[in-house]
Amino acid sequence: MKALMTPRHKAPAFQTAASLPELYEMLEQVQMKNGWNKPTPSLYPEPRQRFIPAHWRFKDARAALHKAGDLVDSKWAERRNLIMANPVPDNDYPTVATLVGAYQMVKGGETARSHRHTPNAMRVVLESAPGVYTIVDGVKVPMEPGDVLLTPNGSWHGHSNESTVESYWIDFLDAPLVQLLGPMFFEHHPDALERADRVDAASPMRFAFSEYHPRLLAAAEVSSGVRALKLGPPELQTFDRTALSLRAGASWARPRSTVNRIYSVIQGHGRSDFAGSQFQWSRGDMVAVPSWHEHKLISDSEAVLLEVSDEPLLRMLDWVREQPLHAKESP
Ligand SMILES: [Fe+2]
Repeated sequence: MKALMTPRHKAPAFQTAASLPELYEMLEQVQMKNGWNKPTPSLYPEPRQRFIPAHWRFKDARAALHKAGDLVDSKWAERRNLIMANPVPDNDYPTVATLVGAYQMVKGGETARSHRHTPNAMRVVLESAPGVYTIVDGVKVPMEPGDVLLTPNGSWHGHSNESTVESYWIDFLDAPLVQLLGPMFFEHHPDALERADRVDAASPMRFAFSEYHPRLLAAAEVSSGVRALKLGPPELQTFDRTALSLRAGASWARPRSTVNRIYSVIQGHGRSDFAGSQFQWSRGDMVAVPSWHEHKLISDSEAVLLEVSDEPLLRMLDWVREQPLHAKESP
């Protein structure tokens, strides 16, 4: 067989370029770009974000998913979800740069096929009933409202709703990061739904609300009326989860940070203030806080939030930076 030959290379005659446009044309022929005439600089003095703060209401997602339960076949149950794509032009996936949040519903009596993938995943349960499980590596892990469940990189997971009611939760994945870096792998389990004979309510993959909520209420205050409790170990290497308890009327100002965050509301209602926008949230809602956005959390009632953030990843890379509140330079 004849070996494939690359075409004979003919170098452009750079010495003959009479002007910069001519030089640019020659550079095209050798697939190079000039660095001095770039319309946007590649390096800049502080973070620039493609994404914006955004808010999604569970009320809307619930109604849409309930309808999707009629329209989307049960065989697609594992994909009957709604993606909270950050509302900037040309984006149909990430919620913040590294993470995606999605609402999912599995109907009573339905199963969602098992699969595994390289993205790490985590879920927080919004509505459930006895008999709703995530099957993680062959073990049934109960899903009760407020529970947080992990399915790390490479672990088999599927869902089985053995109750008679719809179950709703939010999935968080680092899939945008995996897409960016490239190491995406996904496969279905050979048995469709992985067989599981054992229920483990104390699985290390589960942070039961009934277990962590009392610990949260006894945790140290990070601000007046605001308590925080990191849920772990185990840890995911790319993103973590912190339960927050806000007393009615509490207000917590958070500085600009390089960390990307998504808040979800487990209990209560309140609002998030940003420069130029304000979101009123209630149970089940999601709020995206892309990096470098100062914001304030204000609760109108006793509230429990779950903060999901890529801080472990940025910390590993020594890229966590915060700008002290009120320290912004005047324009
Ligand atoms: Fe998955």
